[in-house]
Amino acid sequence: MKHVVLSAAAAVLWMGVAGASFAADSDAQLEKGKALFISDAAPACAVCHTLKDAGSAGTIGPDLDELKPDAARIKKVLQEGMAVMPSYADSLDETSMDAIVAYVVHATGGGK
Ligand code: HEC
Repeated sequence: MKHVVLSAAAAVLWMGVAGASFAADSDAQLEKGKALFISDAAPACAVCHTLKDAGSAGTIGPDLDELKPDAARIKKVLQEGMAVMPSYADSLDETSMDAIVAYVVHATGGGK
């Protein structure tokens, strides 16, 4: 049983590394990412970042519509934080982080 759980976790990790999970954005994942961005993450991204799709106008961090960060860049800053932006490594699980990444890339056309 333990082995099954571990291999499932490894498969998810591998998919994340290969970027396969980003290719498979579902509407549900984007909805979740948007909700986290606007209010569910603590602190919510919207407090500090402007993102038109989310209706946010925060000015503490960079304007994400202009920055158009790609998936790897968003994932890195979520895990490590940057300046006054906190790391979300302890407050968000992998699924939630991937949902935010997919949503921000989708909303900004990042990485294109
Ligand atoms: C307390 C304010 C604050 C919150 C909350 C916050 N950020 Fe940031 N964020 C910043 C600041 C400030 C920077 C820029 C730091 C710098 O350039 O020195 C930044 C940078 C970024 C960057 C650019 C990273 C890079 O490589 O340049 C991305 C992408 C980003 N934030 C996304 C998010 C997302 C997604 C969330 C929500 C999960 C979030 N931020 C929450 C303040 C915040």
